[in-house]
Amino acid sequence: MSDPAAQPATTDAGRPAVVEFRDVTKIYGAGTPREYVAISDVSFTIPDVVDHGEISSFLGPSGCGKSTVLRLVAGLAPQHPPTNGTVRVLGHEVRGPGADRGMVFQDYTSFDNRTVLDNVVFGLECRGVPRPQREAEGLEWIAKVGLNPRRDAAKYPHELSGGMRQRVAIARTLILRPRVILMDEPFGALDPATRLDMQDLLVKLWREVQATVLFVTHSVEEAVYLGDRVFVMATTPGRIVDEVRTPAAAAPARQVQSEPWFHEQVNALHARIEQVEAAARRIDETRG
Ligand SMILES: Nc1ncnc2c1ncn2[C@@H]1O[C@H](COP(=O)(O)OP(=O)(O)O)[C@@H](O)[C@H]1O
Ligand SMILES: [Mg+2]
Repeated sequence: MSDPAAQPATTDAGRPAVVEFRDVTKIYGAGTPREYVAISDVSFTIPDVVDHGEISSFLGPSGCGKSTVLRLVAGLAPQHPPTNGTVRVLGHEVRGPGADRGMVFQDYTSFDNRTVLDNVVFGLECRGVPRPQREAEGLEWIAKVGLNPRRDAAKYPHELSGGMRQRVAIARTLILRPRVILMDEPFGALDPATRLDMQDLLVKLWREVQATVLFVTHSVEEAVYLGDRVFVMATTPGRIVDEVRTPAAAAPARQVQSEPWFHEQVNALHARIEQVEAAARRIDETRG
């Protein structure tokens, strides 16, 4: 009999899944006294739905392995390679970073010595796109993320607010048109109002670029608002305990947050997470 794990998962019209984890375990410091199981037997599939990249939220407490999962998709060390199991993107096993995947981190990762425009076009520059073309595209993206091309393009990162810096980070990633966008708590350091604005911006841009988004957060509200699906994670060891379908973001965040279904789903997820955390505490206690 053929081993089903050897074949990439296919969904929708036989197209390979955008992201697939099969029994993925990551042990940091394997074989050393500091050995630590970060995630254990994580399996999930994010399908390739025709003409609709999905947003998947990864929700869970600090330390449950959210960044580990995301960086395994990105192919970034030391998370990559997994200790066991298979990570596939668009049907191919991940062997390292690639142009099909773009990442936005929580901490502001712009180059301090480059202007906004030079930060946004950095990837195009690396690809050898001629200056006039990349600057024209760069100015377009500066406008798309809600910055002012005339006023903001020549600024340096230290002259920007946190929200503006994340807009630059988003522009810098999306200008390269990745199929998969990986976002690791990108709005975690922003004040609540800016955070809602950024959620709206992300939804708007995501509709335009139709990429598949993997969005890591520990905000239940953010996970439910943005996600077409929410993967709920738990600790000790890090793993996925639930996959919940949620309605796609069809209206601005502030409006959706006042709808009854939204409160119901948020409350249900809070309850679920509390249950999972209580179980983890009991395990910790029995281990002494
Ligand atoms: N490079 C590393 N070496 C050793 N342990 C790590 C490393 N990276 C993460 N960990 C541990 O693995 C667990 C999961 O980490 P991480 O994926 O960053 O979780 P999250 O993003 O959900 O907070 C944590 O307990 C963390 O301390
Ligand atoms: Mg993290």
